[in-house]
Amino acid sequence: MFSEDVIQQFGQQETPFYHYNLALLKKTLSACTQAAARYDFHVHYALKANFNPRVLEMIMQWGIGADCVSGNEVQKAAEVGFDRNKIVFAGVGKSDKEINQAIDLDIFCFNVESIQELTVIDSLAAAKGKKVRVAIRINPNVDAHTHHNITTGLEENKFGINSWELTDCIHVIQECDHVELVGIHFHVGSQITDMTVFKSLCVKVNEIHQWFEEHGFNLKVLNVGGGLGIDYHQPDEQPIADFESYFAVFNQFLERKPGQEVHFELGRALVAQSGNLVSRVLYVKHGIKKNFLILDAGMTELMRPMLYQAYHKIENLSKSESDFDAVKYDVVGPICESTDCFGKEVDLPVSERGDLIAIRTAGAYGEVMASGYNLRDTIRHFYTE
Ligand code: LLP
Repeated sequence: MFSEDVIQQFGQQETPFYHYNLALLKKTLSACTQAAARYDFHVHYALKANFNPRVLEMIMQWGIGADCVSGNEVQKAAEVGFDRNKIVFAGVGKSDKEINQAIDLDIFCFNVESIQELTVIDSLAAAKGKKVRVAIRINPNVDAHTHHNITTGLEENKFGINSWELTDCIHVIQECDHVELVGIHFHVGSQITDMTVFKSLCVKVNEIHQWFEEHGFNLKVLNVGGGLGIDYHQPDEQPIADFESYFAVFNQFLERKPGQEVHFELGRALVAQSGNLVSRVLYVKHGIKKNFLILDAGMTELMRPMLYQAYHKIENLSKSESDFDAVKYDVVGPICESTDCFGKEVDLPVSERGDLIAIRTAGAYGEVMASGYNLRDTIRHFYTE
């Protein structure tokens, strides 16, 4: 829901642009940190969801840590001012350059995704005369029941180490003098709204944790990844993710030893609802069976609908929904690809050239996945506080 005033300000901007609602971001961060603090849980923000400088700056100010998946993200997190001792670095293909960079920055922990990577980190740390902290990313083989393109915790995924490799893994760790095993790390997938998935994850973590105990490892950290979903259908009614229920599940089902830390890596739930892609209608086309709204934003600005058939609520901000009979439009972009479609048969008021269109809940995996295909303009921004 945008106020008249905000819509008027949108109308003065060149489109398309990403609108960030920093007031909502602040409320979301407050809700998350309060809910996590109740159980003394540690939250890292997954930079991959959105690394817009204003967004990062605000998240950093809430004392949240950083979860990075590239050397550049690690560098960016450190530059923005995230506490280096709260930076974790995951990724199935970390290059030597990226590992060296992170060792030099003395980050908190590498989330290691293969046995071979362990030996590479060990030798690079040895060359610098350092000892680095690692957590083993283990594939829990828990089905996240989410879109197959964003499920990561199943055995057939490329991520993490499978449970049958753990014996080999600890033998290698025992031989690595320059790595210290501080924890175990998991991530089952993204956009998970069914809390029983997280309960299943806890059960798996408990089993694996137990296995490490039996093998003489006292783990300081249990990192359960991210994945908390949000409501794409009702951004105004449900602007803030259900952090309370989410953390309560882990508090109830995760077995924690005294002094042991529980870490989370939330991306989407922190930023998705605070971002909108705002665009204008360029043309309206009436076919025999279909009507098209052709926008000035396309898959180059927001790719999720095309890549994952993801739903994003589409609103015409220039018309009031009650004033007009709804028409079904295929809402498409200007890119030379037939897949460049934000939504098919979307109910909207009768729309015309120049109308402002908001594509909601675009704060996570929106701007960061933009491309310059068709030599498009770089992304523009507009912030409200
Ligand atoms: N930790 C790890 C190891 C991850 O792989 C991810 C996301 C996260 C944390 C953060 O997950 P979140 O809390 O945001 O669900 N581009 C896709 C989503 C890809 C998610 C990749 N991993 C999308 O637009 O839906």
